[in-house]
Amino acid sequence: MAKLWAGRFEKPTSALLDDYQSSILFDQRLIRCDLLGSIAHATMLGEQGIIPMGDSQAIVQGLTAMLSDYDTGALAIDLTAEDVHMFAEAELTARIGEAGKRLHTGRSRNDQIALDVRLYAKEACAHVQALLLALLEVLLSLAKAHTHTIMPGYTHLQKAQPVTLAFHLMAYVQMLMRDVTRFGHAYTEADVMPLGSGALAGTTYPLNRERVAELLGFAAVTDNAMDGVSDRDFLITFLAAAATCMMHLSRLSEELILWSTNEFGTLTLDDAFATGSSIMPQKKNPDACELTRGKTGRVYGDLMALLTVMKGIPLAYNKDMQEDKEAFFDAYDTLTKCLPTFTEMMRTAVFHPEGMAQSAAMGFTNATDLADYLVGKGIPFRDAHHVSGALVGKCVREKRDLGDLSLAELREQCAAFDADVYEAISLKACVERRSLRGGPAPLAVEDSIRRAESWLAQQRSQVK
Ligand code: ARG
Repeated sequence: MAKLWAGRFEKPTSALLDDYQSSILFDQRLIRCDLLGSIAHATMLGEQGIIPMGDSQAIVQGLTAMLSDYDTGALAIDLTAEDVHMFAEAELTARIGEAGKRLHTGRSRNDQIALDVRLYAKEACAHVQALLLALLEVLLSLAKAHTHTIMPGYTHLQKAQPVTLAFHLMAYVQMLMRDVTRFGHAYTEADVMPLGSGALAGTTYPLNRERVAELLGFAAVTDNAMDGVSDRDFLITFLAAAATCMMHLSRLSEELILWSTNEFGTLTLDDAFATGSSIMPQKKNPDACELTRGKTGRVYGDLMALLTVMKGIPLAYNKDMQEDKEAFFDAYDTLTKCLPTFTEMMRTAVFHPEGMAQSAAMGFTNATDLADYLVGKGIPFRDAHHVSGALVGKCVREKRDLGDLSLAELREQCAAFDADVYEAISLKACVERRSLRGGPAPLAVEDSIRRAESWLAQQRSQVK
């Protein structure tokens, strides 16, 4: 395709450079944003009398036709074009003739690409938020069903204290709620309209920037042309949110993988969300979890790639910045594949409360409560901790459990024990006693579920 900027050149571009610099293969997905941006720009150029109204109308009609052709699959994208902007302008001019040559008045590809990516990023944020809300809904309904399902809580992956499955899942609900908020921040950063920045120093034409922002649904306009063309912070914020979100999903994946082992045996993934082995007939592998854990690495890579691209660039636009798109799209595509898969996998997974209860009953998860019981009888906590530790040691040596020790054996360590100790260290009592806000007691978790549900309803009505 002929270069629209070739006026000063005496030689054609090397085929090597053409191939090296071309971005159409990956930026063609911006075509809708590019056309919408151009429609708004051309509308404003006509309204301001910068180009004849007839030309403005011809441009808007031509671009609108291209948009609907694109939507029906009838717009053939010329892959020999340098980038999506060159393609769109050349195609427009081929369709409507001379008027098409006025579209780029008062605009540069530098502010044009900034606009396109912002429009795309806004949609991407809203889309990821909607996918996160769907996952949150599934986690909340699982939590609701399991407020009394006792399981061991771990630190250092060693059994620590009894909790419930609902409480454990609600920890992920908190993380994913923060992710929704983070994508909201990325949206707000992207929601600023850069056209009018020109190449870097604004433009001499009396553009109406606020009108373009209004036509495109932006909340504000950029306030410095150099920054307007060279800011990619909003993509970095998106990528940071994506990396954090993947980190959360990766942690959950790791747990699901553990829980579905023979050794834990507390979770069965649905057959539709597991894979087999070509050699070992018995295998049922949690591939979706493993891929999520693995793909977290590539999303971190996307974030690091863009941070590194941006760190040495002098103001204003430099072609380095063309590298922003693949990192952004890759993270977006990864998340939008991962989240629905994860949601369905969680919705169809079967948890095994008996296995969890059995597991919580082993490993002395009530040892802290045994010490707390003694504190209730007036023993200082440090001494109570020692007594409980000594009893655990005795049980480990004799392969017994704290609840199996007779009152006489308990009193050998400390005279303050009474018969009410057995009830006090039952796992149910241990969990129910932790009823502070944010604790695992069923009533506390039910409160937390209610708060999350009303947050979710509020988000659904204003998601962006
Ligand atoms: N394809 C370019 C990009 O993605 C568009 C902007 C080109 N600007 C320029 N001055 N060459 O960044």
